[in-house]
Amino acid sequence: MSEALLSVRRLSAGYGATTVVRELDLEVRAGESAVIIGPNGHGKTTLLRALNGLIRPTAGEVLLEGEAIAGRPSEQIARLGAVLVPQGDGLFPEMTVEDNLLMGAFLGQSWRDRRRSLARVYDLFPGVKARADQQARTLSGGERRLTALGRALMRPSKILMIDEPSLGLAPVALDAVYGAIAELKSAKTTILLVEENFTHVGGIADSVHVLEMGSITRSGSYQELSEDEGVVEAYLGSIT
Ligand SMILES: Nc1ncnc2c1ncn2[C@@H]1O[C@H](COP(=O)(O)OP(=O)(O)OP(=O)(O)O)[C@@H](O)[C@H]1O
Ligand SMILES: [Mg+2]
Repeated sequence: MSEALLSVRRLSAGYGATTVVRELDLEVRAGESAVIIGPNGHGKTTLLRALNGLIRPTAGEVLLEGEAIAGRPSEQIARLGAVLVPQGDGLFPEMTVEDNLLMGAFLGQSWRDRRRSLARVYDLFPGVKARADQQARTLSGGERRLTALGRALMRPSKILMIDEPSLGLAPVALDAVYGAIAELKSAKTTILLVEENFTHVGGIADSVHVLEMGSITRSGSYQELSEDEGVVEAYLGSIT
């Protein structure tokens, strides 16, 4: 059995006849924050969908704490402890913030614990608590993103997968969202996060993996990859 909490081996996935993720290998250890960076359209979201059972992998293996999950229905994978914060948040705009949060507690035991989970999320994100009774459509981009993160915390997880948390956010909101992610990291949450570039991940990334054309082309510590000229040129974004 692998020591990794999440172990992905030669995973392929796509849409119909189109292969998007190609024989991808990746390991994430317990307590680690792994960041995947890669250009627009190269398969970051598709990878997270395949890992969470939202699309069916066409080949390869995914082990979560040694248990094979590739090809299982998304609900089963969720019960085993993978939680996805989707790109674009996936909130229900006409529902209140609190009802959106409660959607995260719909599986099994977590429904019974929903009041305690809500209290924890409100404790972590007081700004979300202040909006509890508002419809989600009235929130700012940053508040929406924090609500989506909060919804993911409404049940126990082994790994939190976060799809482009910086997308479309103004600088102040970005700081709030990455501050929240840093708090989750310091609480030893295992995180797999995808972004288009390095710009925002310096404070949280233990390892960085470059995803190009559906495969991981470089992996290393944040330090290593941020010193690699080719990678920096392509992915350092606005830091320079
Ligand atoms: N539902 C779908 N049906 C068919 N093709 C799709 C579908 N979703 C994505 N694709 C295609 O798969 C490829 C990879 O898309 P994906 O969304 O995984 O990229 P990404 O790396 O997440 O990009 P971005 O940075 O824009 O979020 C793209 O060519 C895209 O057009
Ligand atoms: Mg994407």
